[in-house]
Formats: sequence, structure tokens, C-alpha cells
Amino acid sequence: MQDRLAVVTGAANGLGEAIARRLKAEGARLALFDIDAAGLATVAEELDALAIQGDVTEESMVQQGFARIAAELGPADVLVNNVGGSRNQKIWEMSVEAWDFTLRLNLRSAFLCTRAVLPGMMERRCGAIICMSSGAKEGTPWSAEHSGAAAYSTAKAGIHGFIRDVALEVAPYNIRVNAVAPGPIATPRTSPLFAEMEKTLLHPPSRMVPMARIGEPVDIANAVLYLASDEASYVTGVTLDVAGGR
Ligand SMILES: NC(=O)c1ccc[n+]([C@@H]2O[C@H](COP(=O)([O-])OP(=O)(O)OC[C@H]3O[C@@H](n4cnc5c(N)ncnc54)[C@H](O)[C@@H]3O)[C@@H](O)[C@H]2O)c1
Repeated sequence: MQDRLAVVTGAANGLGEAIARRLKAEGARLALFDIDAAGLATVAEELDALAIQGDVTEESMVQQGFARIAAELGPADVLVNNVGGSRNQKIWEMSVEAWDFTLRLNLRSAFLCTRAVLPGMMERRCGAIICMSSGAKEGTPWSAEHSGAAAYSTAKAGIHGFIRDVALEVAPYNIRVNAVAPGPIATPRTSPLFAEMEKTLLHPPSRMVPMARIGEPVDIANAVLYLASDEASYVTGVTLDVAGGR
């Protein structure tokens, strides 16, 4: 990763922050997107990164952000489409707003950032794009029991379809497109939720995950690093499960 330029979305917290730290430790230069201005400023300062604050589901924001990256840092070598999340509701109660929000956050962000970064990569005939899917692409027992996550699972299965096709389209340009599908990973946002699930659910992660533990952000960051690196130079169109077993 030495001196490669990596763009990470949603890098102010959680897995995106861990991915940015891991890439930085390997010598990458960083441009970080996030909607959380305060969190982004802290992480970007610590990692000596270009900070771009805004909503990556907004077309004009993404275009301006990538133009700024190109002008200030040059062409990007790696894009990590990490932004994602959910408004969970049981399907029979799910609002159209929650459904649309979840698909937009996970899918539109990946589409817009991928479209923005590709022309520079195609010109140079190199690049690696990593998107964030989830174990939810197969359905998640604890989410179904707890709050319902059909919109989220739909979106994360959509990421798998997205990387499969984009990988085919850009393979002639020597650009690789893959995804990581994390299982339950402990972050400041998820840890209290998993603790509650352990107490209240019949199917909490500890019972359903074969390795019987919650993963760490660095488990995901290591997988992203591999897919971003030259060690994965013949790997494309793959969604890598990092989930403690299926
Ligand atoms: N943590 C897990 O257990 C887990 C499991 C499977 C998949 N994932 C996926 O990994 C990714 C990161 O998850 P996380 O747990 O770190 O989430 P998180 O909510 O802790 O962090 C997401 C980051 O994205 C930023 N963000 C949210 N909306 C944005 C927008 N519209 N524009 C720009 N930035 C925005 C947030 O401010 C935050 O910094 C997501 O795609 C998530 O679906 C997480």
C-alpha cells in the first residue's frame, strides 16, 4: 500500500475508521468521506488524511468530492465503499421511508462512488474497489428475531450482484472489484445491541456464529487490506465472508 491513494467512505467511526487505520499502517495516503463532521475531523487529523464531509448518497456531493481528491492528491488507487446501515423494522410494519433509506444508503452510495472513481482507474489501467456487503446477504437470524432487517439484507445481497457485474465490466482495464461480508462485528454502535441480544434472544450471535464470538473491526480491515493489495491481483468479483463461519 506504500504511497497508494485509498479513498474510504464512512471512515469517521466503526469499520471504516478501522479500515483507514489499517491502510495507513501499510503506508497508504488517505482521502476520507463521512457525514459526521466532528468524527471525520478527528480521524483525518490523526491519519493525515484529506477529509471530505458530506452525504455520499448525493450525486453532486460525490462528484465534487472526487474532483477535489483528484486535484489535491491525484488519482485514486483504491476505493472502499464502506458506508452502509439500516432502519430496521419488521417487514409488515416497515415504512416506505425506511425501505428507501436503507437501499439508498447502501446501494446508491456504492454506485455513485464507484462511478466517480472509475474513469481515473480506467485511464491508468489499475485499481481495486472493495464494497461492504454483510452476512445479512443470506438473512440474519438475530436481526430477524430482534427487529427485522429485510431491507438491509436486500441491499447487502444487492452489493454482491453489483460487484459481480462491475467486476466483469472493468476486468479488461485491470481493475478488480470485490466485497467483504462481515458477520457481527463489535463497534461502538453495535456492541450495546449485541449485549442486549445475548440477554433477550433465542438466536443471539454467540449461539448462531460457529466460532461463537463477535468479530473485531481489525478482522474486517485485514480482509479489505488483502483485497486492496497486489497479493489479490487475480481475485475479482468475489464476496469474501468474514463472519466466524457460516
Ligand atoms: N458492524 C457490523 O457488525 C457490520 C456487519 C456487517 C456489515 N457491516 C457494514 O459495514 C459498514 C460499516 O458498518 P459500521 O458498523 O462501522 O457502521 P457505523 O454506523 O458505525 O459507521 C458508518 C459510518 O458511515 C457514516 N455515514 C452514514 N451515512 C452516511 C452518508 N450518507 N454519507 C457519508 N457518511 C455516512 C457514519 O457517520 C459513520 O461514520 C456498513 O456498510 C455496514 O452495513 C457492519
